[in-house]
Amino acid sequence: MKLFDVYPINIINIVHSEGSYAWDENEVQYLDMYGGHAVISIGHTHPHWVKRIEEQLSKIAFYSNSIQIPIQQELADKLGKMSGKENYQLFLCNSGAEANENALKLASFHTGRKKIVAFEKAFHGRTSLAVAATDNASIVAPVNETDNIVFLPFNDEEALTNYFATAGNDVAAVIIEAIQGVGGIAVATDNFLKAIRSLCTQNGAVFIADEVQCGYGRTGNFFAVDHAGVDADIYSMAKGMGNGFPVGGILIAPHINSRHGMLGTTFGGNHLACAAALAVLEIMEDENLLHKAAENGEYLLNELKEISGIQNVRGKGLMIGFDVPDELKDLRKNLLHKHQTFTGEAKPNGIRLLPSLAITRNEIDEFLAALKTEVKELKNKIPADVGIVE
Ligand SMILES: Cc1ncc(COP(=O)(O)O)c(C=O)c1O
Repeated sequence: MKLFDVYPINIINIVHSEGSYAWDENEVQYLDMYGGHAVISIGHTHPHWVKRIEEQLSKIAFYSNSIQIPIQQELADKLGKMSGKENYQLFLCNSGAEANENALKLASFHTGRKKIVAFEKAFHGRTSLAVAATDNASIVAPVNETDNIVFLPFNDEEALTNYFATAGNDVAAVIIEAIQGVGGIAVATDNFLKAIRSLCTQNGAVFIADEVQCGYGRTGNFFAVDHAGVDADIYSMAKGMGNGFPVGGILIAPHINSRHGMLGTTFGGNHLACAAALAVLEIMEDENLLHKAAENGEYLLNELKEISGIQNVRGKGLMIGFDVPDELKDLRKNLLHKHQTFTGEAKPNGIRLLPSLAITRNEIDEFLAALKTEVKELKNKIPADVGIVE
């Protein structure tokens, strides 16, 4: 049987990993500045994470949500403490798309309304409502098309205010990534997030912060919207939550009430996923990873700004992007194949950095050295007089 061919893949077979590194079957070592797509939060194969999963696996991996699962409450307590959202409620699922699907559905149940405000270049996942709220027509199947979603320009307070002035009573939710990931590391301004907060409050709409990529400590605060000093009504989470073990969830503000059957899942919140998620939070706390993400992220951002040739260095904490001019268009490919360094893509012409929150200063310096070497080599390939017409 063939695999369904939906990914453009690199011909690399990673067989083991540790911290910020991964090795292929020939023991070639790769530096992971991509964190397996923002998933590796505490570092690859962290021994405490492995041990906690192994111990849980040898006791019980799964039983249905029809019984008490105390480790879910343990996770909720720890997550409440670490995120500062102790009065919120936790619903567990398995992925980012599912988290957003549940968040949007819950907002509609709660308000009795249908309209969702999303933003241009947003990515919220591939399930039906999440993909409809994703600004990429090529991944929206005809059956998912709906006029319940409106896309407004990102960081445009006036457009948002005008929309609420005409349709505020119909809006169930506003969903936003405080830093757009797939959209190319676009950072929402504090004022824009504050405007969303106040317009949602005034109009009885639900503010959903999609923290699947930018959240869970990546920017140095637990949630990326925390930088703006506002609370969302629902936070969606996945990626870094399990450090590679599939687990997602939503944090739900206390004023949103549940009823039986409203949301549900077979696998969400299983014993093994909770053990993995707890291990992640324990390590984040013990190793002070939020602080490290802020400090090392600032260092990396400032160092990148000093490199001439790369452009528009932007981001927060360890979620960083920069643009690459045409003369450096092979940069990402060469970093991978010549310097064995994984990075992400920031569309249309950029590079996205999403390393483990536990990355060290030495590892960052190793990346910067490779980047500088490669930028220099690519620049030297261009004859000095190119473009000069006499
Ligand atoms: C901001 C954001 N939301 C949602 C998702 C979807 O997550 P998943 O692939 O786990 O369904 C992603 C994935 O890249 C994302 O970046």
